[in-house]
Amino acid sequence: MSVFNASRLLGKTVLITGASSGIGAATAVLFAKAGTNILLLARREDALKSVQQACVAAHKASGLKEGGEFAPIQLDVSDKAAVAALWSKVPGSLRQVDILVNNAGYVVGREHVGDIDEAVIEGMFATNVLGLIGMTQLLVRDFKARKSGHIINIGSVAGREPYVGGSIYTATKHAVNAFTASMMRELVDTPIRVTEIQPGMVETEFSIVRFRGDTSTAKSVYAGLEPLTGEDIAEEIVWAASRPPHVNIAEVLVFPVQQASATIVHRGPL
Ligand SMILES: NC(=O)c1ccc[n+]([C@@H]2O[C@H](COP(=O)([O-])OP(=O)(O)OC[C@H]3O[C@@H](n4cnc5c(N)ncnc54)[C@H](OP(=O)(O)O)[C@@H]3O)[C@@H](O)[C@H]2O)c1
Repeated sequence: MSVFNASRLLGKTVLITGASSGIGAATAVLFAKAGTNILLLARREDALKSVQQACVAAHKASGLKEGGEFAPIQLDVSDKAAVAALWSKVPGSLRQVDILVNNAGYVVGREHVGDIDEAVIEGMFATNVLGLIGMTQLLVRDFKARKSGHIINIGSVAGREPYVGGSIYTATKHAVNAFTASMMRELVDTPIRVTEIQPGMVETEFSIVRFRGDTSTAKSVYAGLEPLTGEDIAEEIVWAASRPPHVNIAEVLVFPVQQASATIVHRGPL
């Protein structure tokens, strides 16, 4: 018997953006274990297919009859036309989405204001902010019509605290925080739930992307401490999604034990 009751998720359909790696991939596998169907969205098709296989294996191992349909869909959330045409790519059996996990996002560089490439600025806003808003607009119309649904946005400690070398990324995550909080207020007279999960340091492909493929600099971010894993954040997401319908987990800030703010970390033994 499990103390963590995820039975409310049985047979539900979950849409996860950024499902090809890190937090999104781990979240897909955990939802698969809980007996859901999943739409797996990201730009890299091969990586999505590997996550799909991991979901199939996790669902099989669970022994659950419910759920088990996993559809990889190539989608760049910053491509407005592709987002508008999403339903044409979704199998008919998975068109009724119950939970949207807006997870796609990234940061590139640590340059200071004045030295930041315009394309980098526009790319981060197009994905982290406009992509998340576009996906939410698409799904929330349906959630309102059906009077049900759950939107789980992946924010960040960077959406609470600005830091040197993070002006654009922290601006995008502050925007996610403001958008999510406003939407929760707008939807207060509906059964639709709105959650923001705000991770601290999670070792995924995130820092590799930030340092433009420089894996040794990416690794040094986590030197001397034990960072969170994608699986740690997946637990928070699936836990929030599986609370009773009258419970809305509004915000969850999650740090590794050796982190206390965006910039305060302890490197060394505890
Ligand atoms: N890792 C951390 O320390 C940390 C901390 C706080 C918050 N977060 C947030 O957590 C989320 C997931 O990051 P992660 O740590 O799991 O990093 P990750 O391993 O790099 O995963 C990022 C995911 O986003 C997808 N993605 C990026 N741009 C996209 C686009 N335009 N359209 C569709 N998918 C896109 C990537 O897939 P493709 O490349 O295949 O498209 C990938 O699946 C992000 O929103 C990030 O800001 C991370």
